[in-house]
Formats: sequence, C-alpha cells, structure tokens
Amino acid sequence: MKSALIEDKILKSPILEIDNLSVMRSGKLILKDINMTVDKGEFIGIVGPNGSGKSTLLLTILGVLKAQEGSIRIYDSNPMSRNLYGKIGWVSQAASNLPKEVRITIRELVYLGTVNAKNMFSFSNKNRRERVKEAIKMVGIQDIENVDVGRVSGGQRQRAVIARALATEAEFILLDEPLVGMDHESRNSLLKLLDRFCHESGKTIIMVSHDLSAIRQTAHRMIFLEETIKFDGMAENFPDLESLAIMRGITQVHEDDHNHSYSDTKERV
Ligand SMILES: Nc1ncnc2c1ncn2[C@@H]1O[C@H](COP(=O)(O)OP(=O)(O)OP(=O)(O)O)[C@@H](O)[C@H]1O
Ligand SMILES: [Mg+2]
Repeated sequence: MKSALIEDKILKSPILEIDNLSVMRSGKLILKDINMTVDKGEFIGIVGPNGSGKSTLLLTILGVLKAQEGSIRIYDSNPMSRNLYGKIGWVSQAASNLPKEVRITIRELVYLGTVNAKNMFSFSNKNRRERVKEAIKMVGIQDIENVDVGRVSGGQRQRAVIARALATEAEFILLDEPLVGMDHESRNSLLKLLDRFCHESGKTIIMVSHDLSAIRQTAHRMIFLEETIKFDGMAENFPDLESLAIMRGITQVHEDDHNHSYSDTKERV
C-alpha cells in the first residue's frame, strides 16, 4: 500500500514547477511573479504580444537565462542539471533559418539531434538511425531526407528541426514559434502530430505561437503571458478578444468602435 502511494506521488509529481519567478534582461524586468505547474502529458500553448517575454520564459526554463527571483524545478532538478540531459527537447524561434552554407542533408540534421554529451560514445549507431528514421516519418519528410537543408522550403526545414527534437526521445519538448513559415496544411498536420505525441507517447509539450486560432484548437491548456501570466486555463475557456483587452488593461479608445480598443491584441497575439 505504501509503495503504491509513493508510486502514485512520483507519477503525479509535476514535471515543471515555477514559483514566483522574476527575470531581468539588461537591467530591465521582463518577467515577474510567474507561477505555473506542468504535469506529464499536458500540451500547453503560450501566447502573448511581441516582446511580452515568451521566449525569455522558455530560455529561463532551459536554464540559459537566470532567474532574478523565485525558482524553477524540472523533474525535481534545477535547470541544466546533468540528470536532465536528453530529457528536454528544444525548438528555438526561427530554428529553421539555418545558414545556407551549412551543407548537410535533412537526415544528417535530424541525426545531430540524437547526439548529446551523455550518449555521444555510448549509444549504438543502429538505435540512433532507427530513431532518426522514425522521427523523419512522423513529420512526413521521407521524400526529402537526402536533400541539402539549404535547398528545401522553409516549412520543410521547420519540420526537419522538429524531427530533430523528436529524435532525441526527449520527454518534455519546448517549441518557440514552430509554425512560422509553414503553410496551412503543414501547420495542421504538425499540430495533430504534437497532440498525438502527448496522448499516445505521454510527452509533455509547451509551445509558444502567434497563431492563436491554431494553437487554441490543439492545446489542452492556454497561457496568456504579458510580463506576468494573465490567463492560465483550459483552452476552451480562453477569453475572447474583448475580455482579453479588459484583462490586459486596454481601455476602449472610441466608444462606438470596439476594434480600435483591442486591435493591438488582434494583430499581435
Ligand atoms: N538579449 C536581450 N537583452 C536584453 N533584452 C532583451 C534581450 N532579448 C530580448 N530582450 C527584451 O526582453 C523582452 C521580452 O523579449 P522576448 O524575446 O522574451 O519576447 P517574446 O514574447 O518572445 O516576443 P516575440 O513574440 O517577438 O518573439 C523584450 O522587451 C525584449 O526587447
Ligand atoms: Mg519570442
């Protein structure tokens, strides 16, 4: 009975716990009083205007940026701890903007994702090759796997970068604007793929996106970030634009014209 309780606690303990986090960049307070908890299997969409701190939050979770105040625990460890190697996948904003002079194929790019400091010498090549093959298949770029990354479209490159994150077998994947440069169809299939990933493989995903309608349809939970968290809840309860404007403290400029009061939200979220 006791061991079942301990097991239950381990299974239920959150993957990520952020307490009272504040982050400064170049002397300016970018994030303040951030509190959030993420459980295994969640698919969380983070939205917010340009410059609202979305990338800063992901970079702080990864441990690239340091907290001014508060704490972050990932799998009960501090960011960048050794025991987190290989557990966290990362797709950066504009990750697909790889320099044109890098002459590697799509498959080689995905393969690079399987190599980390911990497994560099220990992991079998066969195992890696299988994971690469599987990840390439998952994002549907088998037909271009031998093409140079510089010669494929932006959307295809984006898929390759996502395949690279999937090939790591990371359990927790952070994506910053992965939908940029993708056509409508590719966006939908990628979102479905990520959703399946959470449901079937028990992965946990945090994804930043400006595509509010797309992410709202797919993510289970939505966070609206603007220096601090202004909304955190089920995607179906995400506020409409008018409520969002009120929440953000944007007052109506023209009494007879609602659009003016929250056009900012409309364009940039
Ligand atoms: N290297 C940096 N040094 C100092 N300030 C920075 C740096 N990078 C970003 N900032 C500032 O931090 C704030 C938040 O930036 P961040 O990139 O996190 O926003 P974002 O929500 O990801 O925006 P976007 O939607 O444009 O990607 C902005 O005011 C930005 O000017
Ligand atoms: Mg950003």
